[in-house]
Amino acid sequence: MNEQNLQQNAEKRKRVFSAIKPTGNPTLGNYLGAMKYWGDMGKDCDTLFAVADLHAITVAIEPKELRENSKRLFALLIAVGIDPERDVVFLQSHVTAHAELSWLLNNYTMFGEASRMTQFKDKSKKNPDNINVGLFDYPVLMAADILLYQADIVPVGEDQLQHVELCRTIANRFNNRYTPTFTVPVGKIPTYGARIHSLSDPTAKMGKSEGEGDGSIFILDTPDAIMRKFKRAVTDCDTEIKASESKPGITNLLTIYAAENDITIEQAEREFQNCSYADFKKRVGEATVETLRPIREKYEKLRADDNALCELMKMGAQKAAYLARKTLDKVYKKIGFVRV
Ligand code: TYM
Repeated sequence: MNEQNLQQNAEKRKRVFSAIKPTGNPTLGNYLGAMKYWGDMGKDCDTLFAVADLHAITVAIEPKELRENSKRLFALLIAVGIDPERDVVFLQSHVTAHAELSWLLNNYTMFGEASRMTQFKDKSKKNPDNINVGLFDYPVLMAADILLYQADIVPVGEDQLQHVELCRTIANRFNNRYTPTFTVPVGKIPTYGARIHSLSDPTAKMGKSEGEGDGSIFILDTPDAIMRKFKRAVTDCDTEIKASESKPGITNLLTIYAAENDITIEQAEREFQNCSYADFKKRVGEATVETLRPIREKYEKLRADDNALCELMKMGAQKAAYLARKTLDKVYKKIGFVRV
């Protein structure tokens, strides 16, 4: 390899893939743990982002809700800064290669490996009447999402890291069984915000379901709703604004503030040194309102024109399908399927 080739390889743009599921209402946790960084990554990397609608049906969902949630999330991805011209943004079900590769990868995933997934165990406990095979297979579909695009980096919140690890295991197994086929990706979580907790129960994850009420800040919440929820946020009976394991409520609020302002927890602590809890909660609420305001405004504009939104979906699906097909053809050949 000559020097020029070496340099070109070193400078090769990294490929990034991530996705979000259209269940429930997207939260500040989704934003600070993942979506916040997705727009910027497109400056230096080739990025692909999907609305993981196939993943949404592992838990019962009404057709109308699935349709509305998928459109809402697609518009939100653009509203947080993903550029549909520069980046690839699409609905997972629009690219059939995801389901195809998922079937193939099932045969390179061990039952025991899938059984160990924490999210499968948690969701099985929450929905004992609907422990379906899709729920079990969920991480294999995720692996297909990532591997189809030969992604180097998968930016996610902490709860998805175990699934990315399983994806690495599957990719390595396939590469060793045949010849190198898939890029083995790494999961990347942000320094602050990888796990945002509920405002009403700071030991639990901030979740998307409406039932989580005052504990979850939704990206599309009105300023009034945001301020009201922060006002009610659980703190403790102390007065010190310092992050520590024994102060989960305060730590969560400091984390939110630090992630929103791109500062460290220590810097956030200094800003609130002599503040009362009431003032502190108000200021974190205000910072959140200002963080989410431009997103909500852009979102509303995008939702005003359904046809334009559908055109953007088609464009994203076309770009994604082209890349996905290249990997899928390679995989079929390697396994030994007859190609004509
Ligand atoms: P989902 O839809 O549950 O969440 C989308 C992203 O938001 C992150 N996240 C959080 N981060 C911090 N604090 C929280 N409270 C919080 N809640 C959620 C998640 O970690 C995630 O990054 N299975 C995935 C979607 C998916 C996917 C993929 C992701 C499908 N295929 C391929 C990566 C690669 C999911 O359900 O994410």
